[in-house]
Amino acid sequence: MSLDVVILAAGQGTRMRSALPKVLHPIAGQPMLAHVIDRARQLRPENIHVVIGHGAERIRAQLAADDLNFVIQSEQLGTGHAVAQALPVISSQQVLVLYGDVPLIEQETLERLLAKVSDAQLALLTVELADPSGYGRILRDGQGRIEAIVEHKDATEQQCLIGEVNTGILAMPAARLADWLGRLSNSNAQGEYYLTDVIAMAVADGLQVASEQPLDPMEVQGANDRLQLAQLERYYQRRMARRLLLQGVTLSDPERFDMRGQVTVGQDVSIDINVILEGWVTIEDGVQIGANCIIRDSILRRGAIVKANSYLEGTELGEEADCGPFARLRPGTVLAARAHVGNFVELKNTCLGEGAKAGHLSYLGDAEIGARTNIGAGTITCNYDGANKSRTVMGEDVFIGSNSALVAPLTLGDRASTGAGSVITADVPADALAVSRVRQRHIENWKRPKKKS
Ligand code: UD1
Ligand code: CA
Repeated sequence: MSLDVVILAAGQGTRMRSALPKVLHPIAGQPMLAHVIDRARQLRPENIHVVIGHGAERIRAQLAADDLNFVIQSEQLGTGHAVAQALPVISSQQVLVLYGDVPLIEQETLERLLAKVSDAQLALLTVELADPSGYGRILRDGQGRIEAIVEHKDATEQQCLIGEVNTGILAMPAARLADWLGRLSNSNAQGEYYLTDVIAMAVADGLQVASEQPLDPMEVQGANDRLQLAQLERYYQRRMARRLLLQGVTLSDPERFDMRGQVTVGQDVSIDINVILEGWVTIEDGVQIGANCIIRDSILRRGAIVKANSYLEGTELGEEADCGPFARLRPGTVLAARAHVGNFVELKNTCLGEGAKAGHLSYLGDAEIGARTNIGAGTITCNYDGANKSRTVMGEDVFIGSNSALVAPLTLGDRASTGAGSVITADVPADALAVSRVRQRHIENWKRPKKKS
């Protein structure tokens, strides 16, 4: 059966106490709503409708995509009213309702739920809670068949004792949805059009209501305030850490690891505490990452080592290359095999050839550096004249003396050298030494200044 997904995301989220629309608050660096949209996509539906209201423009601006249909609900008159706004554009036989503030629902759970929907049956995701207060309660008949959902505020004392609650997530045949939604009334404790009232209508029409449960109650936990948001974040991070551990990664402390993107890992990778992985990160066999590193959109080849407190972005570290501690590698950095970058070195848009070294305190930008070349401490590529960027190209086995300023554009041939403290403004031929500094002179018997009495 064809499927349309409707994601409800129009609510204000007052308890976030925030100028940011609730569903844009992030889990693992991504808006909650983006997580829900990803889940919806995994189900390969015909259409995804996102019902928005509060902060609609901001949400649309941030998340617009070709496969999303945004529907405006200008007044939040209830969950039933919200689904009704999407109704005119629902074109499939089945409808699944998700929530923009319930971000951690698993694909597998949704697939189990959808497997129970037919022309004659709805499927409701329910969960048993020790403290069910605030939630809609599931009412079952003597044979255990679901008859209705009653909202907490409308429930009798007896009904409030029921521990099985409505998660809000449900899947239903679309055929009679228009009829059911059209008949909703708002004469209830909250004066809202409840989506949950559809259940009793479906039962009255002779349909069955099946139920499914999530593997973990956190899957259906919403984030109404920042405390719940933080709890969801930790749960998500534990899940990611667990996944990596089971894939054979050593995490020094799974509680002090943060994943904010997608990672592919090889064997025998080890990750020390307080590491953050962002965007797309590939980590091959035997890579070691030290404490307090942030690694975004990067590839770490077999046996590469990232020492503590390094920040890598858009970088490729070659086989057995190493960097840090305190390395800053910016987009366009490529270290070939066994290249070495030490502490307080910044690289941007620069390739360091095989076995090349920049051990200490350097800035290398827009540069191409040949194999085995050694960059002395304090070397700077002067790649920017205030208006334009220029390149520095060095051959193989070049030796750059400490504290050299290399004024680009500049080319240094193979085995060229520069004297320490030089300002190099002209190309250096292969095998030459370039020195550009004043010659040392001595003033004999120098009398130091004396303090005036
Ligand atoms: C709803 C369910 C309740 C369930 C609970 C689970 C109803 C009537 N009740 O209650 O049975 O136990 O979720 O959390 O459905 N929204 C809109 N437009 C609206 C109203 C709501 O987009 O007009 C969105 C909200 O942004 C929110 C979600 O729908 O993400 C749920 O709405 P909310 O008012 O929080 O429903 P609950 O009272 O929690
Ligand atoms: Ca709610």
